[in-house]
Parts: sequence; structure tokens; C-alpha cells
Amino acid sequence: MMAVYAHAISFVVLCGFTLLYGVVMDHTSITLNHTCSENSSDHSANCSYRGLTSVPRNLSHDLRSFYVSHNNISMLLDKSFVNYKQLKTLDASYNSIYLIENETFHALLLLKVLRLHRNSINVLPISLLEKNVHLSSIILHHNILEGIPHIVGNNLQTTQFAEDGENACGCKNMSRFDLSFNKVGSLEQGDFVALRNCSFDRFNLNNNDIKSLSRAVFTDLQAVHLLINYISLAEFYADSFLGNKAIVKVTIICSGIRSIVPMNTSEMPRDLFPGITKLYLSRNELITIPKYALDGFEKLQLLDISSNRLSSLQNESFCGLKSLVNLDLSANKIKSLPRGSFACAEKLEIINLSRNDIAVLDPRWFDGSHSLSTLAFYQSNIHEIKTIPWNSTNLQTLNLISNKLNSVTKNTFVGLKNLKFLDISMNNPLEISVDAFEETISLKKIIMQNLSKFTMTGSFRNMHQLVFLDMSYLRSRLEITSCGQFSHTSALRTLNLSKTNIKAEDLVQFKSNRSLFSGLVSLYTLKLQHNLFDDFHQVANAFTTLWNLRELDLFECRIQQINSGIFGNLTSLTYLSLAANHIRIIPEKAFQDLQNLRVLKLNSNSITVIEKQLFSRTHSLQNLYLQDNQISTIEPFTLIPQSLKVLIIAKNPFTCTCQLAWFSKWLDKGNTKIDLRNETRCSSTSFKLLRDQTIWSFHPKDYCGVNIYLIVGVSLAIVTVFSLSVLAYQKRWWLNHKLFLLKLAIIGYEEIIENQGPEDYEYQLNLMFREEDEWWTNDCMKPFLQGRMPHLEHVVFGDNDLHPGSFYLNAIYDVIENSYKTVLLLNNESVEDTWFMTKLRMAVEHMNDTKLEKIILIFLEDIDDDHLPYLVRLLLSRNKPYLLWVDDDEDGQELFWAKFEKSMRTNREMNNVIPV
Ligand SMILES: *[C@@H]1O[C@H](CO)[C@@H](O)[C@H](O)[C@H]1NC(C)=O
Ligand SMILES: *[C@@H]1O[C@H](CO)[C@@H](O)[C@H](O)[C@H]1NC(C)=O
Ligand SMILES: *[C@@H]1O[C@H](CO)[C@@H](O)[C@H](O)[C@H]1NC(C)=O
Ligand SMILES: *[C@@H]1O[C@H](CO)[C@@H](O)[C@H](O)[C@H]1NC(C)=O
Ligand SMILES: *[C@@H]1O[C@H](CO)[C@@H](O)[C@H](O)[C@H]1NC(C)=O
Ligand SMILES: *[C@@H]1O[C@H](CO)[C@@H](O)[C@H](O)[C@H]1NC(C)=O
Ligand SMILES: *[C@@H]1O[C@H](CO)[C@@H](O)[C@H](O)[C@H]1NC(C)=O
Repeated sequence: MMAVYAHAISFVVLCGFTLLYGVVMDHTSITLNHTCSENSSDHSANCSYRGLTSVPRNLSHDLRSFYVSHNNISMLLDKSFVNYKQLKTLDASYNSIYLIENETFHALLLLKVLRLHRNSINVLPISLLEKNVHLSSIILHHNILEGIPHIVGNNLQTTQFAEDGENACGCKNMSRFDLSFNKVGSLEQGDFVALRNCSFDRFNLNNNDIKSLSRAVFTDLQAVHLLINYISLAEFYADSFLGNKAIVKVTIICSGIRSIVPMNTSEMPRDLFPGITKLYLSRNELITIPKYALDGFEKLQLLDISSNRLSSLQNESFCGLKSLVNLDLSANKIKSLPRGSFACAEKLEIINLSRNDIAVLDPRWFDGSHSLSTLAFYQSNIHEIKTIPWNSTNLQTLNLISNKLNSVTKNTFVGLKNLKFLDISMNNPLEISVDAFEETISLKKIIMQNLSKFTMTGSFRNMHQLVFLDMSYLRSRLEITSCGQFSHTSALRTLNLSKTNIKAEDLVQFKSNRSLFSGLVSLYTLKLQHNLFDDFHQVANAFTTLWNLRELDLFECRIQQINSGIFGNLTSLTYLSLAANHIRIIPEKAFQDLQNLRVLKLNSNSITVIEKQLFSRTHSLQNLYLQDNQISTIEPFTLIPQSLKVLIIAKNPFTCTCQLAWFSKWLDKGNTKIDLRNETRCSSTSFKLLRDQTIWSFHPKDYCGVNIYLIVGVSLAIVTVFSLSVLAYQKRWWLNHKLFLLKLAIIGYEEIIENQGPEDYEYQLNLMFREEDEWWTNDCMKPFLQGRMPHLEHVVFGDNDLHPGSFYLNAIYDVIENSYKTVLLLNNESVEDTWFMTKLRMAVEHMNDTKLEKIILIFLEDIDDDHLPYLVRLLLSRNKPYLLWVDDDEDGQELFWAKFEKSMRTNREMNNVIPV
């Protein structure tokens, strides 16, 4: 009783509390769900977007990751995180935090990642992070800090972990410190002293209000990559980096730098020279580079001054850059340079002068640049290259793409004995003289895409070192003056003649029947896309000398017909594309030499049939593309190589009928991956239900029976038998007539006419019986006939009425032939009687001849099945009329006579023959 009472009270209290609590909750949670989601498996809590104004402190104590971003928290207090000592990641970004107490993170000894971006922080207490020795990432962007916060690095003295060895120095190794988008105004020497013991991978000061960098300001900054982009610098003082050895890479792009102020290196000890190796100053406003601009940057290897407004340089601009290898001056306004501009940067290898405004290129600009190996002038408006010998004789790569050069002759490249790679693509209108490459005999790679015209005059014939030649996308037809264009170009690996508007006839010299490609004994790759090979089948020997060829691309070449020998001898070929042509039939032997072919593209043609043996010799074929053709079926037992891994046969008008059953089963085996399955569909000529369904909805079992071939075989047999029967049937009168004539010759009797009535026969009834059974004829048959069938005038009653004067058998034959019906009386004795059985056999034979059911068997007694002669059983089994005489039953006898009368009325036609 007491317990129940207590429960009742607690229920009431609980309800009241819940009610009250509910009201309070309702008041504060109109739209937001304040409950954090905790994940105990990874020890994380997500309190983001909860409309929180303070950090929840009642979450699980073993949290490792804690997200309280996107709330309205304005303060982080000393107590805020004391319960979460295991925290490694804390995200309090996107709040309105302006105050952080000095011990807020002191309990978080394991903290690695601290995200405080997008808040309103303008000051951080010095001791804030002194305990967080494992911090690797501090994200503070989009706050309002006005200086470098002194929050890290000064914990060396106070750290409790001094005995902990490596970790003792606090933030020794920090991957990221992000102070971008704050209000840092100027950087002064001393700003980074507090960070002296930290090293940073990236120190980000982008988008601050920094207007100047004072001398040696970065001395104490141990950052690998310093980012100070998007500031307002105006002047770049080279001495800012004095004394710093840690910084490897500095980017100060888009920061309004108008001038570089060199440092006076003569007054400085060399060990203070900066250690920077990469300096990016692109997208500033530099107009010129003063003499010795970056003197002292002895380690600098890469200098990027692209996208400035440089129009001139001094010939001593780059002096002092003892390690400089790569100089980017692209996208400036350079028209001209002093002679030997780069000579004092002895190690300079690469100069990019692309996208400048150089009208006349003077090789003397590069005098003295002995290490120079690469020069790029992409889109630099060059019309002319002065025909002055080049002094930078180590130049290997010269890029002149997309200029306005009007001629290239032997004199253009004088001195460039080591030039290996020349790209003169997209220069128009460019005249390339016959001797253009005579001075650059060591060229390995020539690219001349997209020219307006070019005549091959044997320019490449003697380039023994040429490996790569690309003349593709010529705007007119490539003119080929003579054969033997490549007679000694024996090193050439890649030849690209795509879209050079050549015709099939260009591939083989008409007179000599010599292939354009003869001499290219090393050729691996031949690209001939987009040419005009309408008469492709007439140049059967175009490729036969290319027995090293690996790749042949004939994409979209208007090919209509393929000569079966065209790919003969290409035993090394691994890739062949004939895609996007007009091919309808591929000769069965076309690919027979391609034992190494791995990829074959035949897609987008008009192929209707795949010859059964087409792939019989391509044992290495892995990828076969047949999509977008006119293939309606794949013949049963078409050879598909075992090696095939990927087949695409989509977009063909498949006729999904039993003809396709074999292929459908092959697909189901699933040894080959079929791509574009969804577009592999049955056409409108398919079984009705399958139209426009994928080919996989065709299950031959459902449409074509269990074994289509068996069915076809059996049907064929049936058809054959049937046809033969029809033939025999149609000829039956002819056969009968012959027999009749034969009989006539032997017996000499009257003509018998079929389908006559009883009155048309000489005898209406012929009774055959043994003498012993004559009583039945006399006692039963004769009275019946007299009483019931008096119209039967001519009846043969046994041997006694046979035609006198004939031989016995002839007489029997005669009477059978001339009787409307023959009746045989059977009993156990008669079936044992040889003569009687002979009569029966003759009667059956006659029946077979006439195809009329002229026999009635009358059983005078029951005969055991075992006793019945085979012939009789056969007759009975064919439903021939027989009657059973019952001795003592009048009703039975009445039925007997009724049946007899009926069967006397007609002679039915027989359906089949009784074998006698
Ligand atoms: C609030 O969020 C928690 C965790 O995401 C969830 O379990 C709870 O059902 C939510 N409550 C409401 C009222 O949406
Ligand atoms: C926390 O939850 C919010 C939605 O409630 C979601 O948008 C956010 O991605 C989650 N944060 C994390 C780190 O899972
Ligand atoms: C923490 O307290 C808040 C109310 O202050 C409550 O809504 C929330 O459910 C509590 N969370 C846990 C895990 O107890
Ligand atoms: C934190 O600041 C309070 C005064 O605001 C000061 O008494 C305390 O010593 C400081 N703690 C640390 C660790 O600097
Ligand atoms: C800092 O840590 C990274 C791995 O997180 C390591 O690759 C790097 O060498 C470390 N740097 C220093 C100075 O310890
Ligand atoms: C290249 O020019 C420098 C001076 O600019 C000269 O000393 C040197 O002999 C020249 N070399 C050649 C191969 O012309
Ligand atoms: C076929 O290649 C062999 C070398 O493998 C070469 O000797 C023969 O001349 C080539 N046949 C033709 C017709 O070029």
C-alpha cells in the first residue's frame, strides 16, 4: 500500500517537472534543436547549428572531437572545456567570440587542431596556449587581430613537460598557422620572437592590411612556406628576409608591389643572406627590375615575376642570383631586352618570356647564358627572329607556339647545335624553307601543328635523331613532293599526320608503288585521324613496311572499304582505331597478322556483319569497340577471342530472335565486361515483347525452346518426311496404275475403278473360310443375307465359288480384286491354317494397293492374343472393322448383323499402309 502511494507521488512530481521543463524548453527552442549529437564510437560531439550561446559542459568527458561552430557563443571561459580533457580537435568557428580567457585551453593537453576562424577575436592572451604542446594547426582567419598574436612559443619556460624531451618546446612542429583575413597592419622585427621555437609548414598572412615589411622582420620566423598575398605593399624591400634561413618559399602575389628595393650586400655578412629558394611575385605592378635587385638571394632557384608590367630589364637585373635556375617573366610587356640580359645568372636554365609583346626576337638577349636549356615564347607576338647566330649554344627546347612568325630558314637557328625540341605550332603565315632544319640536325622532336600550309620537300629525310614529328591540323592539304620523305628518319617513333587533308593516294607513290612511310623502321605510333581516305582500299601496301608499329589511328578518315592485306605485316600493332568511318564490311582476313592487337576500335561505322573468323588470329585482343554500327546479329559460333576483357557493342540494331540466341548465351557467360549495357538494345525487328529492351531481357529459353538446334533439326526431319509422303501420295495413282498394269499383264482382268458402290463390283461380297467353318455360312450368313440384304446378288461363298479353270491363287486374287468386300472368318484353327493366312495376306495386300478398307474380319470365337498372328494384330490395331460372333445371345447377334450391314455400306479410305 505504501509503495503504491509513493509511486503515485513520484509520478505526479515527474509529470509536473516535465510540464514545467517543457514550457521552459518551448520558450527557448522555437526553431533550433539545442541537443548536441554525440557519437560514442569516435568520441565526437556535434553541437554545430544549435543556437548555443555558451559551450555545453554536460557532454561525455571522453570527447576527442568537439564541434560548436555556427552558434552564438561570444566568450570562451576558463571553465568551458575543463570537462573535456581528451580533446584533440576543437571547432568553435562561426561564432561571435570576442573574449577568450587566458586558461581556456589549459586542460586540453592533447589538443592538436584549434579552429577559431570567423569570430570577432581581436586579442589573445599570451598564456592561452602554453599548455597545448601538441597543437599542429591553429586556424584564426577572418578575425580582427591587429598583430601577430604572441600565443605560441613562449611556453618554453612554463611548460610542465620539460622532462618530456621533444615535446618540451611546445609547438615545435606546426603544420598550419592561419592568420589570413585579419587586420594585421605592419610587420615589425620582434613580432615573431615569441614564435622562435616553433616551426610552421604554412604560415598564412594573406589578406591583411600589411603595408610594409621592415628590415629583417622574419629573422625569427621558422616557416617553410610564408604566404603574404593580397596585401598592399608598394615596395618590396629585399632586406626584409635578411637573417632568415628557414623560409624556403615565399609568395607575395597580387600585393601591389611597384618596385623592388635591393639590399646593400656589401655591408652585410653573408651568413645573414636569406635562404629562400622560391619567390613568387606574380600579379604585382613592377615596371622594371633594378640592377642587382635580389642580390644576396644566393639560394634562390625559382623567381616568378609573371603578370607584372615589366617593359624593360637591365642587363644586371638578375646579378647575384647565383642559384637561379628558373625565371618566369611571362605576361609582361617586354618588347626588347638588353644584350646578355641573363648572363650574370650563371645557372639559369629556363626562361619563360611567353605572353609578352616581342615583335623581333634577338638571339643576342641570351648571350652568355651558357646554361640556358629552355626558352618559351608562347603567344609573344613574334614576327621575326633575327638571323644572328645564337650564343646560348646549350639551348635544347625552344617553344615558339602561337606567334606570327613568317619564315623559318636555315639561318633562323644558327648556333643551336643542341636543340632537341622545337615547337612552331600556330604560326601563320609561316614559310618553312627546305633547309629549315639543316642547322638543327640534332632535333628529336618537332611540333608544327595548326600551320596554314606546309610542303614536305624531304626536310626530314636526313634527321637521323628525330623521334617525334607532329604536323597535324594543317589548314590546307599537306603537299608531298616526292617519295622517300623519311628514307633515313630511322629513329622516328611517333608521326602525327592527323588532319593534314591527305588522301589515300598520298600514302603510296603512284609510280614506284612505294609507301610514304618506308624508312620508318622504328615507328611506334602513327596518327592519321581526320584525313580523306575515301580510296583507302587501293593502297594495300601503305603500312606493310611498319613492322614495329604499335599504334595506328585512322579515326574519322572517310574509309569505306578495307583491303584484306592493308594491315598485313603489322605484327607488333597493339592499338588500331578505325572508328568513325564508313566501313560496311571488314574482310575476314583483315586482322589476321595482328597477333598483338589489344585495343580495336571499330565503333561508329556502318558495319553490318562480323565475319565468323574475323578475330580468329587476334589472340591478344582485350578491348573491342563495336558500338554505333548496323550489326543486327552475331552468327552462332563467331570467334570471339578468349583474351577479350571489355566489349562495347551498344547502339546496334540487334534483332532479338532465335538467330541471336547463341550470342545472347555468350553474353550470359560473363567472361567479358560489357560497357554501355543500357544502350545495348533490341531493335524493332525483334520479337514483339523485346523491342527496345536491353539485349539482356532476351532469354532464348523463353522464346526458342530448350535447345534451338535440336528443335530445328527435328523440324527439318519432320518436314522432310512430310514432303516425301506428300510426294508419294501425289504419285499414288501413278504407282497404282503401274501395279494394276502389272497385274493385268499377269491376270488379265477388267479395269477396277475406285470409289465405286457395291453394285459396280463383280462380287458384292466375298466370304473366305475354311471348309470346316462352312456350317456358319450356311446356318447364319446365308439366312441373314436372304432376309436382310437380298440386293446382294453376287456373293462368293468360299472356295467352291471361285472362278473355275484358274489356278487356285490366281482365282483367289481375282475374287479379292473384284469383290466389294472380303470377309474372313477366323477361329483358333483358321489362324493356324497356312492357306487361310495366305488368303488374308493377299486381301491385306490388295487393301494396301487400293487404299480402301475392303476387309471385314469375323471372329467366330475368342482368340488368345498370343495366338493371334502378327498380321491380324496389326490389322486390329489399325482399327480395321472386325466383328465378334456370339453363339447363344440373340441381342448380341442382332448387334453383330447391324454392324455388318453398316460396314457393308461403304469402303472407307485407308490412312496408312499395313506392312505385309
Ligand atoms: C534534436 O537532435 C537530437 C540529436 O541530433 C535528436 O536525437 C532529437 O530527436 C532532436 N530533437 C528534435 C525535437 O528535433
Ligand atoms: C554537425 O551537424 C550539422 C547539422 O546539424 C552538420 O551540418 C555538420 O556537418 C555536422 N558537423 C560535423 C563535423 O559532423
Ligand atoms: C545538457 O543540458 C541541456 C540543457 O542545459 C540539455 O538540453 C541536454 O539534453 C543535456 N545533455 C546531456 C547529454 O545531458
Ligand atoms: C590569467 O589572468 C588572470 C587575471 O586576469 C591572472 O591572475 C592569472 O595569473 C592568469 N593566468 C595565467 C596562467 O597567466
Ligand atoms: C613536422 O611533422 C611533419 C609530419 O607531421 C614532418 O614531416 C616534419 O618533418 C616535421 N618537422 C619538424 C621540423 O619536426
Ligand atoms: C657568347 O657571348 C659572350 C659575350 O656575350 C662571348 O664572350 C662568347 O665568346 C660568345 N660565345 C660564342 C660561342 O659566340
Ligand atoms: C614484312 O616484314 C618483314 C620483316 O618482319 C619485312 O622483311 C618485309 O619486307 C615486310 N613485308 C612488306 C611487304 O613490306
